[in-house]
Amino acid sequence: MSTILGLDVSSVARPGARKFPSPEKRVAIYPDRKSRLVFLTEPAGLAVERYRLLRRRLCTLYPQGGVLLITSPNPGEGKTLTSVNLAWALAEANYPACLVDLDFRAPGVSRTLNHKFEHGGVREVLESQAEISDLICRISEHPLHVLGIKERMSSPGHLLYSQSLPSMLADLRARFQWVILDFAPVIPMADVSEVIPYVNGAILVIRNGKTEKDMLAPALEAIGSKLWGVVMNDCPINGSSYYGYYGCRKD
Ligand SMILES: Nc1ncnc2c1ncn2[C@@H]1O[C@H](COP(=O)(O)OP(=O)(O)OP(=O)(O)O)[C@@H](O)[C@H]1O
Ligand SMILES: [Mg+2]
Repeated sequence: MSTILGLDVSSVARPGARKFPSPEKRVAIYPDRKSRLVFLTEPAGLAVERYRLLRRRLCTLYPQGGVLLITSPNPGEGKTLTSVNLAWALAEANYPACLVDLDFRAPGVSRTLNHKFEHGGVREVLESQAEISDLICRISEHPLHVLGIKERMSSPGHLLYSQSLPSMLADLRARFQWVILDFAPVIPMADVSEVIPYVNGAILVIRNGKTEKDMLAPALEAIGSKLWGVVMNDCPINGSSYYGYYGCRKD
């Protein structure tokens, strides 16, 4: 894996300005400290800087942006935390971004943002019950949008394996430079392998002290050549704080 350090994001080209959904529905979010949307809850903390560094590396290696799937080997390793904060970091630097909750069994975006998607979200779009532009909401003065999940589902297979999913992702990609998918863990379901063909890249989140070494091989195998980087979550920084270290790669 290679890393590119020290480039300010303002020096990175931002090709292909995307159209925003119109009209833009804005919603207010009220994340509390527990939610760890650190750009709002700990704006002066070290974690914010680590997410900005992740943004810088991604935007340097992949200036065109893309549909980026966030997964981890097992549950609870920081996928939602990484998705939400990375999406915020991108939008803060003026990259049009959409955060999409695609973890139907354990949707975490609603909880993290402290916002209920009462009018529906991904499921309603995939089942053609609603137009995507009616359900995407803007949640910040930055160009940050979200498409959430209204209710958890125990068997989302028919949605993940349907042809509606690639169509929805292509639609989102046409609207936003970055589409961040908060996804399910690699283990125990086969969801990642089903969706990986339709994304541009994937980030694997591993959690310090939690992810076991022998879980890495199956996770890396499921992602294959789409791996764009690894985020090490919950890792001491300078011996004092608790968020991540990461590497990004370009094939
Ligand atoms: N670096 C961290 N420091 C402190 N708490 C953390 C950290 N990373 C994650 N957590 C906490 O651990 C829990 C799981 O994190 P998160 O929801 O981001 O994981 P996940 O991989 O999305 O989980 P799931 O598989 O259930 O969707 C949350 O309560 C979150 O606040
Ligand atoms: Mg989650």
